[in-house]
Amino acid sequence: MTQPIPSFSYHLPTAIEFGHGALARLPALARGLGGQRALIVGDPGVERAGLVGRIADVLSQTEMPIAIFTDVESDPDIRSVEQGTAIAKAERCDFVIGIGGGSALDTAKAIGLMLTNAGTIRDYVGINKVPQPGAPVVAIPTTAGTGSEMTIWSVLSDKAQQVKISVGSTYNCPRVALLDPGLTLSLPPHTTAATGMDALTHALESYVNRATQPISEAMSVQAMTLIARSLRVAVAQGDNLQARADMLLASTIAAMAFNSTRLGLVHAFAMPLGAKFHIPHGLVNAILLPAVMRYNLPGNLPKYAHIAEIFGERVENRSLRAAAERSVEAIEQLKQDIGITAKLSAFGLSEDRFDEVVDEALQSGNVPVNPRQPTREAMKAILRAELE
Ligand SMILES: [Fe+2]
Repeated sequence: MTQPIPSFSYHLPTAIEFGHGALARLPALARGLGGQRALIVGDPGVERAGLVGRIADVLSQTEMPIAIFTDVESDPDIRSVEQGTAIAKAERCDFVIGIGGGSALDTAKAIGLMLTNAGTIRDYVGINKVPQPGAPVVAIPTTAGTGSEMTIWSVLSDKAQQVKISVGSTYNCPRVALLDPGLTLSLPPHTTAATGMDALTHALESYVNRATQPISEAMSVQAMTLIARSLRVAVAQGDNLQARADMLLASTIAAMAFNSTRLGLVHAFAMPLGAKFHIPHGLVNAILLPAVMRYNLPGNLPKYAHIAEIFGERVENRSLRAAAERSVEAIEQLKQDIGITAKLSAFGLSEDRFDEVVDEALQSGNVPVNPRQPTREAMKAILRAELE
């Protein structure tokens, strides 16, 4: 039987600059983008680590005037975008450099959008609602997980409403992702573990979902291969540059996979659980991934069997179903090896809140592409399995 010819769109507007010491390329990149004044966006941790100062030093060769905004909170509120945009406008910045984890990069990207688009970032919630390209953004990740440096998405919090909002637009892709694995060397083990599991969840959810296509599949396989090889080492030996390079590359490649496919049920849950219970994004994904995999297995046995192989499980002489089940065991073992033991109840989730979590998760655009259409009861069972 012949397979249908795939039909899809794949668009990638972000240039990648990768290498140990790649930060030194920033002045040439800044000149190439034609910016006159840069706003550097980071979070207080990045500033304390001296990275904002390093960017300012590196940029001083260009004599480009800079402004600095480092009040980005974790799970940034819309207010962070408004504050940063106000500074950029007051200083007449026409170019944004984001440095940090997903929160800093998502905020930097949204500020870039708001420098050329009217109204507030709330006007652009959803997908492809932004009318104009934003100001150019160079994204410099210091964690290996969110992939924000490559994606169309900015995830922000509306803390007053206790919800997360997502702005997705091809105009929200950074112009350049500047990837220097040396910048991730000081990440502590628990952050390395949680962000690495976020990258894995991106690659895996994109790979098994119903919207995937051959380009994203290839990216997912490569990202999972790198993660299988190097996440344990990056957690166990934070100063191992090879493992850090693998993880940074994996995070970016996973984002290149999911940018055009969306994700799945883990990320659908991550939005309400992050907004209402403040569970760090990577950690909530890590908690839920094996339970969601176990539920999703029947939707795509061959892909789950392949994931088992990527993670070094022996699958020969097993039935397809048994091989697929090995993928769940492999990820559970990985979690154990990198020290992730948290459960949802530790963050205040209890059974009486399941309905509101499920209601909100079901609104996610990640649900229709999930390999198995979930029932409310199945979703509650997944939460219950990881409650305590
Ligand atoms: Fe994620």
